[in-house]
This record gives sequence, C-alpha cells and structure tokens, in this order.
Amino acid sequence: MIKEIATTPYADQRPGTSGLRKKVPVFQQRHYVENFVQSIFDSLDGFAGQTLVVGGDGRYYNREAIQTILKIASANGFGRAVVGKGGILSTPAVSALIRSLKAFGGVVLSASHNPGGPDGDFGVKYNVANGGPAPEKVTEAIYQRTKTITSFKIVEAADVDIDTFGATQLGDMRVEIVDSVENYAALMQTLFDFDRIRDAFRSGFAMRFDAMSAVTGPYAHAILEGMLGAAPGSVLNGAPLPDFGGHHPDPNLVHAKHLYDLAMSPAAPDLCAASDGDGDRNLIIGRGRFVTPSDSLAILAANAHLAPGYRSGIAGVARSMPTSGAADRVAEKLGVALYETPTGWKFFGNLLDAGLVTICGEESAGTGSNHVREKDGLWAVLLWLDILAARKQSVDAIVRDHWATYGRNYYSRHDYEEVDSDGAHALIKTLRDRLPALKGRSFGALHVKEADDFAYHDPVDGSDSLNQGLRVMFEDGARIVYRLSGTGTAGATLRVYIERYEADPAKQFGETQQALADLIALSREIAEIERFTKRRAPSVIT
Ligand code: G6P
Ligand code: ZN
Repeated sequence: MIKEIATTPYADQRPGTSGLRKKVPVFQQRHYVENFVQSIFDSLDGFAGQTLVVGGDGRYYNREAIQTILKIASANGFGRAVVGKGGILSTPAVSALIRSLKAFGGVVLSASHNPGGPDGDFGVKYNVANGGPAPEKVTEAIYQRTKTITSFKIVEAADVDIDTFGATQLGDMRVEIVDSVENYAALMQTLFDFDRIRDAFRSGFAMRFDAMSAVTGPYAHAILEGMLGAAPGSVLNGAPLPDFGGHHPDPNLVHAKHLYDLAMSPAAPDLCAASDGDGDRNLIIGRGRFVTPSDSLAILAANAHLAPGYRSGIAGVARSMPTSGAADRVAEKLGVALYETPTGWKFFGNLLDAGLVTICGEESAGTGSNHVREKDGLWAVLLWLDILAARKQSVDAIVRDHWATYGRNYYSRHDYEEVDSDGAHALIKTLRDRLPALKGRSFGALHVKEADDFAYHDPVDGSDSLNQGLRVMFEDGARIVYRLSGTGTAGATLRVYIERYEADPAKQFGETQQALADLIALSREIAEIERFTKRRAPSVIT
C-alpha cells in the first residue's frame, strides 16, 4: 500500500563534495532520510520500472536507511532494487553493479572515511547510470527540492530481509539480495593477471591489507586470500562493524600508523595497504617506503600497460588540481593528455565517459580507472600487486626508479581541521583578494610566477566550476594551494597543499617536511593562518 505522507523541509540538505553527510543524530530526525530520498527521486526522470542499486559500507544506520530507501523507491515506481547482502556494498562495487546491470542509478550509504557509530557520521549519495556520483546539476536540483518538499511517497510494508539471498516483492518492486563481492571480483579478474599475482604469493610475497573494520573486509578476504592465495591473516580487521571498531577508517599515516610502523620495521611484509570506510580510498606502503597518493597515481599510470586490462595503453590521465604534478610528467612522456580537475571524483566522470582518460587520481588517496566511475581502493592495491608481480621489484625500487626517470615531486598536505568556519572563509576571501598583488612578488628565494583562483572548464559538457582553490605558483615549479574541505561535518577544515619539484637525483631522498620547510613557513605567512584559524600548526600532516 502506497501512502503519501506530509512533511516539512530541512534547510541543511545540500549535498557536499560527495553526497549528503551529517552526524547520525541528524539523519535520525523525523523524515530526514525520507525527505532527502524523495527529493532525489523528484529530481530524476524516467525511472519507472527501472533498476536501483542500494548498498552501503555497513556503518551505523545503514540497515535502517536501506529499508526506508527501498520503501520509497517502490512507492515512486522503481521496478527492481538490487541490494548487497546485509546491506553491504563498497562504493566501487555499487558503481560496478550499476554498470553491469545497466541500472538507472544507485544509492550509496556511507560517510566514506569519517568515523561511524551512533555519534559518528552517516551519508547518502546518489549515483547515476554511468555508475558515478550525480553531477552538480543533479545534486543542486536535489538540494532545491529538499527546500520545498511537502510530502513523500512510501509503501507500507514489513522490512525486507536483506540478510538472505534471493528475490522478494516490496509493493510492485522486486528486491534482489545479491552477493556483495561476486560481480566486483569478476570485474577485477578481467583487469589483472590473477595467475601472475597468485604465483607471486606462492613464491613468498607477503602483504597486509587493513580493511579497518569497514566495507572492504569481505572483498579482501575473498579476492586476496581466497582467489589470489595471500596467506591467511593477510587481511586485518576484515569484518565490517557498525562503528568500525571505534576506529577512524581513514587510511592515512595518522589513522593507519600501525601499518606504517609495520612497513618500516624489520618484520615488514612486501606490501602494506589499506582502504577506507566505503572502500574507495587506498594506502600503499612498501617495505620501508610510503608511496604518496600523488606518486602512486603517477607510478600506476606509467606501469598500467603491464596489467592485462590496460595492455593497449592509456588514453589519458586526470588528476585533481591539488594533486601533485608527478602524473603530468608521465602523461607527457606517454604522449597522452593530462586533465586537471577540481577536487571531487565526480569531475572525472565526463572525461572517462568520453574516453579522454583511462586513469584518474587524487591526493586524497583516491585512484581509479575507467572500469567504474568511482575511485577504487582494492583496484589500486590489485594494480600495484600486478605491477610488483610483473616487474619482480620492491615497491621502494619502483618508486626510486620512477623518481630517477621523471624527477620527484616532494608533496605534503597540512590540514587545519574543525576550525571556526567564519575565520576559515575570511582567510580564503582575504587571500583571494590578495592574489593579484602576490604575482611577481619574491619571498626570499621564492618568486611568485602566478597566483589564481582555480576554475575548471569541462571539455565534455562545457560547464564551468569556479572558485575551486587558491593557487600560488613559484618560478621553480613549487606550489602552494589553499582550499576548504567539502567533506567535513563540523566547523571548517583548511587544507594547504605544498609541493616542490626536484629533478636532481642527488636531492631526491630528503625528508619531505624538510625539503618543503621554506614553502611551509611561507604558506602560513601569506595566508595569515594563525590570525584567521587561531591555530599555530596543522592538526594533520600527510
Ligand atoms: C571525497 C571525494 C574525493 C575528494 C575528497 C576531498 O573523498 O570522493 O573525490 O577528493 O572527498 O575531500 P575534501 O575534504 O578535501 O573536500
Ligand atoms: Zn571513501
């Protein structure tokens, strides 16, 4: 029975960089999920009788939200919903399923790498038919709708059993509960040489993959240990927990410090890797060698042809603007195009759909390819594994070889987290106003060549995205970038990205913070970070 229920709008349902993300108690408000989901469907056309993929990273409120979404999807006329068993689907697995089922779209329940649990974060994101996050014109339409919504449609029915395989009816909609891993694993088999990787494990290659008690556990167990023969125990924290075991499922050097310590210890395996809450980010650390996400993108682009799925070469590379220029040099050498986009995976969608690029990546630990329309943590790990198996060299040797060939981009991101929002916005505004005056100025040995506010013109759909980050570029190729995070849920987070190119092989093995020390000091000075944020130092350095 379909019911139409009156509701009143919430003013705060504007999707951010990656869907609507809020604290769980916000989502638990009366009709909060209902309003947003109905607003999504109200902003779409032509889904009657079509398929919707639904799943999430297993965090707290995942199961409740899925029931609500299914009932509203049925009432609005979807013909079929495909749900991962237990409500579990990684973000890239949703993308893969949408594509292989030719579904109309999908709803991903996740707040990515943010902590979960009753007081943690939750999120709802809509993905379109190409498997990627909805473009800005869709998310903006959804937001406009949330401000005027007066009712939602829902079927009155018992909850669907999402823990048992098979199909059931929910009103006029068929609900299928499918294996969370199968479709994704089959896709990975088409891209990588599983035999070669299996041989490497058989010959003693050792790895640790930390699923951080989040969604990639089942995928990693099945693919790494099951299909590829990694030693049992290679996968750590492999059971998804609603609160991620109280951990922060962000695979960076702060929250996965234990992995870093392991990789730097005498007991280090050949490869340490991790993924985040919803499985789209990755962390790669070889024995004694952390690989920055920007370097990882460049190295994967340079070596992708070694994997069967990319044997015929790559069409082009895309990176977000704050990501280091390491990939640019690879693209140049390969003679393929390099695209610089605003932060946010959604900006890669058009380039991938148009076949302009094959590999994409971001400094925020995201790497992926045209196999789906999301970044993909396990994919990155598998591509690294395949390259390591093909080259029969260590991670460290491959990184050193890469720097010797292309030069090294020293790179670091300094985050000032949860600072006062007004202060952070004032900092950006003040600096933006000062950009014209910065051009041509010298600070010691540093000469400002260009200073601008990054804008992106999408070559595929012609759209323009303005105000995507402030860039101060120096004559020697060094760069400082400032932007405010679009994913935080409390206050504002200022991100400062600092980079310096080093062509001289004799100078490529310095410590990053030291190699960037003058730029770091200058980054604080020209933006008056302390005055605006009341912070003397960043809260996280990656
Ligand atoms: C999410 C998006 C990424 C993006 C990142 C940036 O993870 O999926 O594409 O790079 O957010 O987050 P920020 O907090 O810097 O806006
Ligand atoms: Zn994520």
